Amino acid sequence: MPDKTVPQKVTADYAKISPTAVLVSALRAKYTNMPYAREIYRAVKQITTPLLYTGTGSILSRLARFAPQSMSRVAFIESRYLSVNTLLRNLGDSYAVVEIAAGLSARGLEWAGSKSLYVETDLPDMISIKQQVFDKVLHEKGITQSRNHHFCPLNALDFSDWDRLGQRFFSDGKTNIAVVHEGLASYLSRAEKEKLRDNIGRFFRKYASKGTWITPDFYPYENARKTWILRLIQRRLERKTRTKMHHFVNRDEVMEFFKLGEFQASSRDGSFIFDQVTCISKVPLNREKIRQALSRYQVYQAEYTA
Ligand SMILES: C[S@@+](CC[C@H](N)C(=O)[O-])C[C@H]1O[C@@H](n2cnc3c(N)ncnc32)[C@H](O)[C@@H]1O
Repeated sequence: MPDKTVPQKVTADYAKISPTAVLVSALRAKYTNMPYAREIYRAVKQITTPLLYTGTGSILSRLARFAPQSMSRVAFIESRYLSVNTLLRNLGDSYAVVEIAAGLSARGLEWAGSKSLYVETDLPDMISIKQQVFDKVLHEKGITQSRNHHFCPLNALDFSDWDRLGQRFFSDGKTNIAVVHEGLASYLSRAEKEKLRDNIGRFFRKYASKGTWITPDFYPYENARKTWILRLIQRRLERKTRTKMHHFVNRDEVMEFFKLGEFQASSRDGSFIFDQVTCISKVPLNREKIRQALSRYQVYQAEYTA
């Protein structure tokens, strides 16, 4: 039965999802010690209209008072960022990184010291906000932007955007490329996820020497809606973005999804980065609850094999 409270998404309506990037940024600033989190959120509040940021961070803060378990969402948001970082570091400098749906994530700044190319992408309005935010943060910190760090508009569901990206940065086809994203795929239907997968595969085939796709986004349905509080958060996000979320049923279904797109995938549960999580001192949850929250999701690494 379709959920009547959530209108179905129409073509080119993805910008409705963009405010969630500000929500994630607010949570990072308030509940974690993640790099640049406070600077980024301060800057985005100066740049965007109150419509975009007012109230976004306070939804969970209000929930936190009477339902501390809602804070497991913060642990999840921090850990997915850290787990992607770890897998990227394991790949080393021989891979260029293309981050899609980058939102207000700080990874591009963290990678600035690396020798490899880092291209941040998102929908046009969001990537423009991101660029302005980073200009402010770099100015405030007295840092110059790394020559390897670029911004590029990209709708991940539109292959002509991938083509433009490929022509601009990877036209010789000799680069190893890692595509990463976090926080995007739950907002895509099954058919849109397949489109995303096939666009990434086609992009690798056309422009990469070797292609690797890293994402923590495909956590199963039963984990996404494990508790009433997670169901409540999901309903609020769906109303806010006017998008019906979709999750895979279980890990087997995710592995099959990769295989059908000619990717060979492996995964780890998120608890391997438990020791790095900084929100532990800031959220009203004990260590065991946080460890459980992290173990409920998988981060996938999928090599393109075609
Ligand atoms: C929950 S935010 C996550 C942002 C960021 N990855 C993070 O973790 O902070 C979702 C992001 O997906 C982006 N987005 C939504 N639809 C998209 C699409 N079709 N192509 C590219 N990005 C998209 C939004 O603009 C937004 O920045």
